[in-house]
Amino acid sequence: MVKPDGVQRGLIGEIISRFEAKGLKLAAAKLEHLPEERVVEQYREHLEKPFFPGLKAYIMGGPCFLMVWEGKEVVAVVRMMIGATNPAEAAPGSIRGDFGLDIGRNVVHASDSPTSAMREIAIHFEPAGLIDYSKIDESVLYE
Ligand code: RTP
Ligand code: MG
Repeated sequence: MVKPDGVQRGLIGEIISRFEAKGLKLAAAKLEHLPEERVVEQYREHLEKPFFPGLKAYIMGGPCFLMVWEGKEVVAVVRMMIGATNPAEAAPGSIRGDFGLDIGRNVVHASDSPTSAMREIAIHFEPAGLIDYSKIDESVLYE
């Protein structure tokens, strides 16, 4: 998910480009103002944390661009590509390392395990909204 700061800064295309170039396959995407209940549900593990009110205000501060990506080891690969939670500590070359400075404005969200990915996809997308397709001659693209 591209967070509101990423959307406002015009980084949607850059972020899609990186995942496409990596070889991941886009299954769904949409621009949306997230309602409070879906923000709370997505970040329910952080409900009691001191930073939660600020996190909720940040995520609800503008539209988010939500995506579902598929591919080999997709969760681990995407987490690697977004970089450490605090952009000031994120490796150069990662999305947060290249485009962020503040932990509370860290440009993107990504699910941290296959289990949380399934849970979060179900919060934001209808099953029919996930597009199942093949790329032409996948043997050229993948082993
Ligand atoms: P995300 O869930 O957004 O992909 O980020 P993450 O897994 O890398 O980090 P997580 O621990 O899940 O934290 C969720 C988001 O809360 C904000 N945060 N602020 N001020 C703080 O100490 C603090 N800690 C976390 C960040 O926006 C983080 O991405
Ligand atoms: Mg997280």
